Amino acid sequence: MSAKTFQLNDSETGKTVDLEARPGTVGPGVLDVRSLYASTGKFTYDPGFAATASCESGITYIDGTKGLLMYRGYPVEQLAANSSFLEVCYLLLYGELPTGDELAKFDDTVRMHTMLNETMLRLFNGFHHDAHPMAMVAGVVGSMSAFYHDTTDIHDPRHRDIFAHRILAKMPTIAAAAYKHTMGQAFMYPRNDLNYAENLLHMFFAVPAESYEVDPVSAEALDLLFILHADHEQNCSTSTVRMAGSSGTNPYSAIAAGIAALWGPAHGGANEAVLNMLEHIGSVDRIEKYVAKAKDKDDPFRLMGFGHRVYKNHDPRATIIRGACHKVLEKIGRTDSPLFELALKLEEIALRDEYFIEKKLYPNVDFYSGIIYRALGIPTSMFTVMFAIARTVGWVSHWREMIVDPDTRIGRPRQLYIGPTARDYVDVDKR
Ligand code: ACO
Repeated sequence: MSAKTFQLNDSETGKTVDLEARPGTVGPGVLDVRSLYASTGKFTYDPGFAATASCESGITYIDGTKGLLMYRGYPVEQLAANSSFLEVCYLLLYGELPTGDELAKFDDTVRMHTMLNETMLRLFNGFHHDAHPMAMVAGVVGSMSAFYHDTTDIHDPRHRDIFAHRILAKMPTIAAAAYKHTMGQAFMYPRNDLNYAENLLHMFFAVPAESYEVDPVSAEALDLLFILHADHEQNCSTSTVRMAGSSGTNPYSAIAAGIAALWGPAHGGANEAVLNMLEHIGSVDRIEKYVAKAKDKDDPFRLMGFGHRVYKNHDPRATIIRGACHKVLEKIGRTDSPLFELALKLEEIALRDEYFIEKKLYPNVDFYSGIIYRALGIPTSMFTVMFAIARTVGWVSHWREMIVDPDTRIGRPRQLYIGPTARDYVDVDKR
């Protein structure tokens, strides 16, 4: 890849600055502006980072115009059809699909780390029964650095590896403990004979007084959702993990920061918001009213699960999940799901509407995921926790990539200062 130069003319000073234009392997290249401030005394201004590449990355690629998503070069459709979540985890973490032996070893390692330190389990008792599960999960993940001192040396590759396996293995256990706490039910210990998704369902829905059989259709659906949510390049929560991690903090704290960022309704919290919205709309005859509200500039209401910073075409994950909804609801025997019917109708009406067409607003991954979670019996307040379990591998992969990147510096953006200019302090009795 040969470097090209881009010339920038500063009309104020008459100076010309040469910026290196660097191509990626596919997709838009970047202008390297690192020398800009030194040569012009000016920063770039880009709130929301819509035009800013914050790093180099070889993990995930999105073409938002074509509706394309690839993990390490593999189209997500192929992974969704042929792979398993743990295989995708290996791919994201290590860059290549595992051999049979590598996958078996990785699977075994993750299964052997599912239990929590008992003291950590008791932390849940400190939360009120109606605490939001995301608050509990963010708090308990943050606390992991206090329990697992053997994995906080970020410069030791062995520590980084143990951390990666440990957090992947324990996220479902932490999520299930949060759920059981809200239900007032006994915590169910993990079963290492079950696979990742099966074990999660077991820890959620088994109770000590009954025998529980994991439904394979539900486990398969959950595994698919996890694959689709596993990574999405420099999204808000991943960038948060990178930003927190860039200070050199321990990785558990960086992941806890990512969980907090994911919670917001403009990001992972949208899956919960979509279900609440569909329930609020209630019936097909009320859709037009809510579409009109979403288009009204003076109304803060937005169609949750619609629109995306990068996708200006169909979100490929939404297309796969929409198809899976049909399959799951049919297999589970809930073909009459009124929420799914409502969602399909809402999508149809919005996609015909000039406002949504013009602004290229399509259903995103979260428009349909909640309908599957609901069909599996997972309560709405746990939806974003499900997303967090799946996205953990993405966060960890990016954190690992960042730690070894020689270009990494502490994340520290600049600003355009618009506050008062220098002025003198006035004594309180003279103000
Ligand atoms: N309903 C109505 N109008 C919308 C919607 C929506 N869901 N999304 C965007 N718009 C409009 C905006 O009002 C804006 O209009 P304007 O140009 O006239 O001001 C235009 O479309 C562009 O929207 P922005 O908010 O500027 O786009 P941005 O890239 O900053 O935000 C976001 C993307 C946050 C996803 C936004 O579309 C949104 O709030 N969607 C609903 C929440 C949601 O589903 N989030 C999940 C995203 S996927 C994920 O994180 C897993």
